[in-house]
Amino acid sequence: MTFSSTYIRSCVDAGDMAAATDALGRPHRVEGVVVHGDGRGRGLGFPTANIAPPMYAAIPADGVYAAWFTVLDSGSPVDGLETGLRYCAAVSVGTNPTFSGRNRTVEAFVLDEEADLYGQHVAVDFVERLRGMEKFDSVEALISAMHRDADRARDLLVEGA
Ligand SMILES: Cc1cc2nc3c(=O)[nH]c(=O)nc-3n(C[C@H](O)[C@H](O)[C@H](O)COP(=O)(O)O)c2cc1C
Repeated sequence: MTFSSTYIRSCVDAGDMAAATDALGRPHRVEGVVVHGDGRGRGLGFPTANIAPPMYAAIPADGVYAAWFTVLDSGSPVDGLETGLRYCAAVSVGTNPTFSGRNRTVEAFVLDEEADLYGQHVAVDFVERLRGMEKFDSVEALISAMHRDADRARDLLVEGA
């Protein structure tokens, strides 16, 4: 069975990563360079790699996803993660409404690892949508939600691996 690119794009637009994976035969991948965000993540206990995808990239609907994170070979040494290996991640797509953000960002929190990834070319393979983007009343509520996201992403990716 073959699927049209329009159908696959509609799955991605809707955040239906399981359907996109079925159609593609692999998870939908977004690649980009890691850029500096607002620098808030580390203080929250969730340092994220902010990924700048190319303009034409198909970014999944705003929300939180379980995903595989891979540093692609860029020639420059990576401090912390091994190039080409996939790591578990919880990925946020959206405008960070809790902080009244304006820009839509793709931010990956790589589970259980510490790494300096600025300037690296990385890939995110979107496996499953965990929930929608929420505007939380407090930073504490956001942090609790991120802990649950990380646990669910780990369970889902490790069990399914
Ligand atoms: C797993 C995960 C879930 C997130 N969920 C939300 C959310 O529901 N609402 C929100 O406003 N921001 C959410 N964020 C984004 C954080 O607000 C953002 O990572 C943080 O503000 C740091 O941003 P910075 O890297 O630009 O400093 C989430 C981030 C991660 C990693």
